[in-house]
Amino acid sequence: MIHQNRRKELLSQLDEGALVIVSTNPEQLRNGDVHYPFRPNSDFWYLTGFTEPQAVAVFSKDTYTIFLRDKDPAREIWDGKRLGVSDAPHALKADKAYSVDKLKTQLPKLIADATTLYYDFKPCTLDDKIIEHLAKNQYQSLAAYAHEMRLIKDDKEIELMQKSANISVNAHQLAMQQTRADLFEFEVASIFDAEFRKNNTEHAYTPIVAGGENACVLHYIENNKVLNDGDLLLIDAGCEVEGYASDITRTFPVNGTFSAAQRQIYQIVLDAQLAAIESIKPGVMVVKPHQIATHIIQQGLIDLGILQVGGDLSQFYMHGTGHYLGLDVHDVGAYQKNDQHRQYEPGMVTTVEPGIYIRKDDKINPIYWGIGIRIEDDVLITNNGNKVLTGALVKEIDNIESLMREK
Ligand code: GLY
Ligand code: MN
Ligand code: MN
Repeated sequence: MIHQNRRKELLSQLDEGALVIVSTNPEQLRNGDVHYPFRPNSDFWYLTGFTEPQAVAVFSKDTYTIFLRDKDPAREIWDGKRLGVSDAPHALKADKAYSVDKLKTQLPKLIADATTLYYDFKPCTLDDKIIEHLAKNQYQSLAAYAHEMRLIKDDKEIELMQKSANISVNAHQLAMQQTRADLFEFEVASIFDAEFRKNNTEHAYTPIVAGGENACVLHYIENNKVLNDGDLLLIDAGCEVEGYASDITRTFPVNGTFSAAQRQIYQIVLDAQLAAIESIKPGVMVVKPHQIATHIIQQGLIDLGILQVGGDLSQFYMHGTGHYLGLDVHDVGAYQKNDQHRQYEPGMVTTVEPGIYIRKDDKINPIYWGIGIRIEDDVLITNNGNKVLTGALVKEIDNIESLMREK
């Protein structure tokens, strides 16, 4: 029902004769006969709830047609059950279902009466050739409408995001408790693999498990180095539940105790993150948390003599302070409206993830070299303020150190 309501709401924003065409992702070959695990296209998933590959949904105010794979007893022995054409109308609340092989012959009939087609050619490349041929200049992007809807999460989506957050929080806690010097980064990463699989979820993105200076490589995913006593460990990992992501980063000492220099830098990042979160409520510009975090980090680094007044902060903090979160880890939805920063609204979910990254540099006191710290939480905007979905995970220095002592 939820997907039916979403299709209805979407159509209510489009012209009377609109026809929406949305296809799922193509399957990706890994090698030989082996595919990567299939992940449905997020717009398609959001509007249909259908998770099989090779599917196209076509709907207007009058009718909903789904194209999907035929039943195939021989293939189903290898790949598992398929819904099939005859059960699809009931299961998916569609008026009609056809084999995806009939797309070429059936689509012209569906398109014939439409005034405007709403379709996005990327990243759903499955049937681009067919649709391009049929649609010739008569289409508009669906994304502008579907992505605005996806930006505001309904109760069911929030429930799934909270579940996703809880599983990830628990995995991060276990990682903090089990980390010690001389383990390899992949051994800590395996805690997340196991926890996510145990909960019937998977990684929402490739995790970053970065000891010491590896944390200064923002997209470090090798996760294959040994953890050294005295270093910090930065972990950015989150799972997805029915497609909904959580995205958490914590940074903590490999040996359970922050050094004086690590404490100083950590406290700046934490102060920046807490102040940025504090600012988030309906009506506040979405750029505000970044402005607040940047200001605090800049001042903190100046106070420690790491940054000169008027110096280039991007040397130490070179990414944004957050992004929308949902079916995509970097979720859809515009950050600006009419060339202005938009405001937060209830139902949006954003990450808040300031950081400081200090590489070896002759001009900086060596006690700070190799310190890379990010703290990231997932924040739901509520009617009056916000709720930190990942708030159960420790991040104050004392709390991290006592959790790690509990091993
Ligand atoms: N884990 C991806 C990000 O933090 O944006
Ligand atoms: Mn993030
Ligand atoms: Mn992250």
